[in-house]
Amino acid sequence: MTYVTVEKINKSFKGQTVLHDINLSFKQGEFVTLLGPSGCGKTTLLRILAGLIDPEQGVIKIDGKDVTHVKAKDRKIGMVFQSYALFPNMTVAENIAFGLKMKKLDKAAIQKKVARMVELTGLSGKENSYPRELSGGQQQRVALARSIVTGPKVLLLDEPLSALDAQIRKNLQKQLRAIQKELNMTTVLVTHDQEEAMAVSDRIYILNEGYIAQSGTPHEIYTKPVNEFVARFIGNYNVFKGEELSLLTRGTEFPHKLYAVRPEAFTSQMIDNGLEIIGKVDKVMMLGNVTRYELFSNGVSVTAEHLHKSNEDIQEGTLKTLYIDKKDVISLA
Ligand SMILES: Nc1ncnc2c1ncn2[C@@H]1O[C@H](COP(=O)(O)OP(=O)(O)OP(=O)(O)O)[C@@H](O)[C@H]1O
Ligand SMILES: [Mg+2]
Repeated sequence: MTYVTVEKINKSFKGQTVLHDINLSFKQGEFVTLLGPSGCGKTTLLRILAGLIDPEQGVIKIDGKDVTHVKAKDRKIGMVFQSYALFPNMTVAENIAFGLKMKKLDKAAIQKKVARMVELTGLSGKENSYPRELSGGQQQRVALARSIVTGPKVLLLDEPLSALDAQIRKNLQKQLRAIQKELNMTTVLVTHDQEEAMAVSDRIYILNEGYIAQSGTPHEIYTKPVNEFVARFIGNYNVFKGEELSLLTRGTEFPHKLYAVRPEAFTSQMIDNGLEIIGKVDKVMMLGNVTRYELFSNGVSVTAEHLHKSNEDIQEGTLKTLYIDKKDVISLA
């Protein structure tokens, strides 16, 4: 059952359209990510969902109700912004309790809910600390606890992890997903980080310049990009013109205009009925678990990646033969 629908949302600033006919739909308990480069309209769309900005056109429904003209405070939406915006003069527990006090819940009920949130977000022992005494990751968890304690119908997260270092960020992604699942909370995350989107989402909408470029599960988006933008943005795909692929494979015909091939689809093992490319190795880079390099063949460059487990030695300047399965060559629109 659809829980949130966004129909034909349009928005412009100073005559410049930043969102074009946006349609979205989320199920209850779904974790949806809006993914796209800087300036593509993610925050604007999230703020329209929250009721902080009015769209020029379009309809937003939550739980069957048209909320397009409902004020932000009456939409039952929780929101976490990129800057934590905690109250500096309140403790962790007081920060989390804030929304419940506004709702005038009794003290015992507040204590119980706050204790549950503290436990859920792994902040036990920090209840009486002030924000300045916490790490960035802990502060972000307080912000999260504070926005979900009131039991919003939908949780909106605008790049909540982007200020954190990689390790903490990965940890918090896992925790966020676990909490979201446990509470079965419909959640919309905004991010420009494709790995983060892949890691946490049930479904991803990719935005480009105010348009939805593609939507689907992480698997669908990664394995079947529909156009050049998605292919380049999501998986470091090689994008080839048809004639470039013909040159690379010495004569095989590729009638489409554009094709995408994932770097890890190239292999050194021969493939039955596969395509063969012979070229010169260049720009070898060790990236931890994978080795990435370029192969030049007939004036065309290919980026290939292999898992770093093999004892295969990839040397710059040497000749190498790579194979690809034809099904890994994706035609783009
Ligand atoms: N209040 C405003 N007045 C005028 N233009 C605005 C306003 N808010 C956003 N814009 C413009 O709308 C476009 C989309 O902005 P938005 O903040 O939604 O992008 P974003 O996808 O969230 O980017 P980022 O990843 O950098 O946060 C940008 O070109 C921005 O300059
Ligand atoms: Mg933004």
